[in-house]
Amino acid sequence: MNILITGGAGFIGSALIRFIVQHTNHRVLNLDKLTYAGNLESLSSVVANPRYHFSHTDITDYQAVTQIFNDFQPDAVMHLAAETHVDRSITGAAQFIQTNIVGTFQLLEISRLYWENLEKSKQSLFRFHHISTDEVFGDLVNTDSYFTESTPYAPSSPYSASKAASDHLVRAWLRTYGLPVILTNCSNNYGPYHFPEKLIPLTIINALAGKPLPVYGNGEQIRDWLYVEDHARALYLVLTQGKIGESYNIGAHNEQRNIDVVQKICSILEQLAPVKPQGISHYKNLITYVKDRPGHDVRYAIDASKIKMELGWTPKENFDSGLTKTVSWYIENPEWVENIQSGEYLNWINKHYNS
Ligand code: NAD
Ligand code: DAU
Repeated sequence: MNILITGGAGFIGSALIRFIVQHTNHRVLNLDKLTYAGNLESLSSVVANPRYHFSHTDITDYQAVTQIFNDFQPDAVMHLAAETHVDRSITGAAQFIQTNIVGTFQLLEISRLYWENLEKSKQSLFRFHHISTDEVFGDLVNTDSYFTESTPYAPSSPYSASKAASDHLVRAWLRTYGLPVILTNCSNNYGPYHFPEKLIPLTIINALAGKPLPVYGNGEQIRDWLYVEDHARALYLVLTQGKIGESYNIGAHNEQRNIDVVQKICSILEQLAPVKPQGISHYKNLITYVKDRPGHDVRYAIDASKIKMELGWTPKENFDSGLTKTVSWYIENPEWVENIQSGEYLNWINKHYNS
C-alpha cells in the first residue's frame, strides 16, 4: 500500500511511521506542517529508507494536499495531524479550530474527490483512518465506569471539542458520501520522543534539571496510560483489519492518579540517575502543586474490549515497564531533548508556569 500519514513528525505519528516502515513493505508519505510539536529527528531511524517520503505541508492547504494525493496515489490515509495540547487550547483555541476542524474537513473533501475517481477495485480497498482521543467523551466523575465506543460525546476543553467536531465530520462523510472511514479513540500515550510540554516528559526532564515538578490542583485526576508503540501497532491493525464505519477504543487499563505518576517517575530516577543536580537530595522534593487547569477533566478510563475481541489486540507493555523504558530513553537521549528546547518551547514554559 501507499499510506499517507498526516502529522507523522509528531509523537504518535513518528512511532506509527517507524512501526510501518520497519515491520511492513508499505510506502509511507509523511505530510506534516512541522509546527512546534513536529520533529523530523524522531524519524532519523527511517529517513534513509526508500519507502519513506516527507512533504512539508499544512493540511489546510487545499491545493498542495490535492497535488500530493494526485502524485502519491494513496491507498489509505491515516490522519493524525492536529493541535494536541489541552493547555494551549485554553489560551489560544483558534489554531485548534483551524487545524483540527477545518483541516479535517479539507482532508475529507480531498479524500472524497480522489476516492470517487478511483477505479472500482481500488475504491473498495481505500480507507480513511481518523485518529482521535478519549477526551471526546468528557470525563468520568464519581463513577467506576469506562468509556465504550457508544459513550455519548461530552467534550470539556477547546481541544477535545475540536476533536469531537472532527469525529462528527468523519462519520458524516461516510453516511452522506460513502467514504470508507474508520475511527480510533485512544487514551493518554507515553513513551520516547514525547514533546516535553506533556506531563510525563515534562516531569522527567525537569527532574533531571533539578527544576520544580508542577502538579495541577490536588494531583488526584486520573489518566489511563498507553505505551505509544502499543498504540502504533493497534492503529496498523485497525487500518488493515478494522471494519468500515466502526470506531475502536484503544487503552491499556493503566489508570493512574497524576501525583502517583510523578512519584513513580521520581522513584525510577532515584534508581537510574542517582547523581542529582546540586542541592537536590530527593527528586520527590521537587514536586510543586500549582494552580489547576480550568475545566480539568477528572478521570479517563478506556474499555478496550472491542479491539481485543474483534481484532485480537492487547498491549504488550505494562505501566511500570513502559515508564522505566521511557525514563531510560530520556536519560540516554539528551540531544533530542536539547534540540527541541528552543525559543518556542521556552516561551510556552515561561508563559504558562510563571504567570
Ligand atoms: P503531536 O502534537 O505530538 O503531533 C502533532 C503533529 O501534527 C506534529 O508533527 C505537527 O507538526 C503536525 N501538525 C499540526 N498541525 C498541522 C497542520 N495544520 N498540517 C499538518 N501537520 C500538522 O500529537 P500526538 O500526541 O502525536 O497526537 C497525534 C494524534 O493522536 C492527534 O490527532 C491527537 O488528537 C491524537 N491522540 C493523541 C493522544 C496522546 O496522548 N498524545 C491520545 C489520543 C489521541
Ligand atoms: O486522553 C488523551 C489525551 O491525552 C490526548 O488527546 C491529548 O492530545 C494529550 O495531550 C493528553 O491530554 P492530557 O491533558 O491528559 O495530557 P497532559 O500530559 O497535558 O496532562 C496529563 C495530566 O497531568 C492532566 O490531568 C493534567 C496534568 N498535568 C499536566 C501538566 C502538563 C499536571 O498536573 N502538570 C503539568 O505540568
